[in-house]
Amino acid sequence: MNATTQAKNKDEAVAPILVYENVRKQYGAFVALNGVSLRVNVREVLCLIGPSGSGKSTLLRCTNALEAIDGGTISFEGRPLPKRDSETRKIRQRMGMVFQNFELFPHMSALDNVAMAPITVLGMRESEARERARALLSKVNLADKVDNFPSNLSGGQQQRVAIARALAMEPEVMLFDEPTSALDPETIGEVLNVMKALAEEGMTMIVVTHEMTFARRVADRVVVFERGAIIEEGSPKQIFENPKAGRTRDFLSHLGWNG
Ligand SMILES: Nc1ncnc2c1ncn2[C@@H]1O[C@H](COP(=O)(O)OP(=O)(O)OP(=O)(O)O)[C@@H](O)[C@H]1O
Ligand SMILES: [Mg+2]
Repeated sequence: MNATTQAKNKDEAVAPILVYENVRKQYGAFVALNGVSLRVNVREVLCLIGPSGSGKSTLLRCTNALEAIDGGTISFEGRPLPKRDSETRKIRQRMGMVFQNFELFPHMSALDNVAMAPITVLGMRESEARERARALLSKVNLADKVDNFPSNLSGGQQQRVAIARALAMEPEVMLFDEPTSALDPETIGEVLNVMKALAEEGMTMIVVTHEMTFARRVADRVVVFERGAIIEEGSPKQIFENPKAGRTRDFLSHLGWNG
């Protein structure tokens, strides 16, 4: 390896994968994101917490260009997000998104849900896509459910299919929007375990969650939102044990969090 390559690799290792600079998003006169600046490093797990309506989902939707921003910049791998539809679609393929309500295709088996995008979007051979889908479903502990349709899966199982489906596109970053908040309590743990394993493998993740125990244990950094702005960010230890902002303390105690 020559010196230039070494320097480049070193740069890549430290360069943030996502950089938000003074990001602003409005819906009419309503300001949903009001000057958000944030950096996300490769392999980092960021948990976004904060009250309802504070802009957490909006930030995720702007991140994968489902919504255009009205000010500031969001850069992904060193380049500002594109504006043209054809280009935003390509960006979206490189970010896996997992929603609260799974949004699986109801008329397809778990296996086909996972195999479909690699076939239709990436042009992968069907046999290869199915083989990979099987492996991904095993990875999320659903090897025995590959032929089930969503209606014959529990919420926790459907959400794990949704995670496998996102992983099938080999994303650079995974965005989770309250992935467990629509689940029965007994299935939440199995989804969080899959996410924890993914984090341990080094996946870059941004997770909007109300699961404070998960954030405390798995996040590298916790970011607290309120009214479209970041009021505080820090290590889980600092945020949960010694929050600087009074409003962070209020939010956590409102959730019943007492360290
Ligand atoms: N399409 C839209 N049109 C108008 N207002 C919107 C739209 N989407 C979001 N908002 C508003 O923007 C604000 C931020 O919404 P967002 O969904 O990002 O909040 P959130 O932090 O994810 O909340 P929750 O914890 O309830 O999911 C809210 O006040 C919401 O009503
Ligand atoms: Mg939300």
